[in-house]
Amino acid sequence: MIKKLSMHLGQYKKYVVLIPFLVFLDVLSELSIPLLMSRIVDVGIVNSDIGYIARIGLYMVLLACAAIFFGVLNMKYTSLASQGFGANLREALFSRVQEFSFNNIDRFSTASLVTRLTNDVNNLQFTFMMVLRMLLRAPMMLIIAFFLAFSINARLSIILAIAIPLLSVSVWLILSRAVKLFTPVQQKIDNLNRIVQENLIGIRVVKSFVREDHEKEKFREANDDYTQTAINAISLAILNMPVMMLVMNGATLAIIWFGGNMVYFGDLGAGELVSFISYVMQILFSVMMISMIFLLSARAQASGERVVEVLDTNIDIRDSDQPKVSMAGNASENKTGKGKVEFRNVSFKYNQSGSGEDVLTNISFAAKPGEVVAIIGGTGTGKSTLVNLIPRLYDVTEGAVLVDDVDVRDYELEKLRDLTGVVLQKNTLFSGSIRENILWGNHDASQEEIETACRDAQAYDFISSFPNGFDTELGQGGVNLSGGQKQRLCIARAMLKKPAILILDDSTSAVDTATEAKIRESFYRNLADTTVFIIAQRISSVRDADTIIVLDDGKISGMGTHQQLLESNEIYKEINLSQQEGVLVNE
Ligand SMILES: Nc1ncnc2c1ncn2[C@@H]1O[C@H](COP(=O)(O)OP(=O)(O)O)[C@@H](O)[C@H]1O
Ligand SMILES: [Mg+2]
Repeated sequence: MIKKLSMHLGQYKKYVVLIPFLVFLDVLSELSIPLLMSRIVDVGIVNSDIGYIARIGLYMVLLACAAIFFGVLNMKYTSLASQGFGANLREALFSRVQEFSFNNIDRFSTASLVTRLTNDVNNLQFTFMMVLRMLLRAPMMLIIAFFLAFSINARLSIILAIAIPLLSVSVWLILSRAVKLFTPVQQKIDNLNRIVQENLIGIRVVKSFVREDHEKEKFREANDDYTQTAINAISLAILNMPVMMLVMNGATLAIIWFGGNMVYFGDLGAGELVSFISYVMQILFSVMMISMIFLLSARAQASGERVVEVLDTNIDIRDSDQPKVSMAGNASENKTGKGKVEFRNVSFKYNQSGSGEDVLTNISFAAKPGEVVAIIGGTGTGKSTLVNLIPRLYDVTEGAVLVDDVDVRDYELEKLRDLTGVVLQKNTLFSGSIRENILWGNHDASQEEIETACRDAQAYDFISSFPNGFDTELGQGGVNLSGGQKQRLCIARAMLKKPAILILDDSTSAVDTATEAKIRESFYRNLADTTVFIIAQRISSVRDADTIIVLDDGKISGMGTHQQLLESNEIYKEINLSQQEGVLVNE
């Protein structure tokens, strides 16, 4: 995991090499100070040599300045390295998520992805900074201070032989338990984020169902749950403090007791005793720091796993190694594509690995270029699933989908999606102006092309009725438009692409019938060369199609023109009957 994560150090690797040197110089200057102090006490003060005291004092000031200098430099580079690492990691995660197929996205919840990109990366970034700052410093401090203390007085160092193991073991016992408690904290944050996110996205629904109190209660529970879990972990980890103070003060006491005796008998200078105590403090503090690093690393491990899980996700829909049709190739013949679509014995289930039920079974049909194919059937019968297979938003489980006689899996994805314009059932607009949103379809479109697409989608009139016209700013998700207006903008956006295949998944459900008829009419007039797939609920929306496919429970129940189906298909007849004005449905 560390190897995978460290790949994202990128250009900041040089700091990681530089930092140990800075740490080493910092530690050396800092540890020399007590040594000089002991000289002042034992030589300067004992001999009342003001000149000596001033000279050594000056050295101490210089060393302190050096320690500060190296310390600050160390801080600067560790901050640079860790912030840079965090930025690289976030970017890698974000571009990974951009590559995700629909199937990949289904696996992670949005909230969890957000937590992983923010909180988990922050965790790793902070741990990395602490590790850079402390993991080198503490052992260096420990070893050098130990060496210096030992050189001052070997016998007195025996106290360390007791204090260090005592501190290590007790700190280890506390922290290893605390780490177990920290692991669920991350999941609780996920949960909290999920509730916040769902609530914010659906705030209008929450209000219309007067569910505010219920939502507040739900949030409070998750918040308390998170807080309690975090407090449990922290209150155990915090025990470290008194234990450390106890051991440190105990050690100081023992040193003063035994060392005091030595000073009394002239075996040890008073200054040496003072610097010995400083070193012991440094040593015990380093032990403490090392254990803190272990705690942080253990906490970060959970975050690291969650991050690596995203980075390692196998993206199941990718360009084939040798695409038969690519953006560059086939330019002469297949520039725009003809738009023939064929399904050959297609079966599909969402959970490819699991035993889940087939959502589509044995679908076979062919649509000629320029045809209008309508798909009708009850909700949940697999209409959306079927059309999603054409631009390869999902891959078939069995069989094959062919566009212009080439399996969609043999296309370069960019090429395939360039050929197809999709208006998804759950479509979204983005904040920005209306023009910006429509230009998603084709960045190079002229104003004239934009206007034509909007006229065809019956969006031109309402756009020009806005004071700012095409420059009207849309709120997040297009909140300041009506449902039908949003749908028409989405259609215009797809039409601007001038795709060979246009897919409209229930895209006029919120548009009134008269306007819908006009949109349909402009399809037949202006999109003669485009193969159009229309999913609709109303018979009126599909009756003029060249072919109508009736789906029932993932299977094709009937296929043909309006007249043919009226004569042969029970389901179609039933739908037709139920939608006829003024006719009462029996029973
Ligand atoms: N992302 C998904 N993951 C798992 N199951 C899904 C997903 N999307 C749809 N389904 C299931 O597949 C079936 C067909 O859905 P769908 O194609 O959306 O139906 P339709 O568009 O005809 O209403 C439904 O039973 C639905 O529960
Ligand atoms: Mg649908």
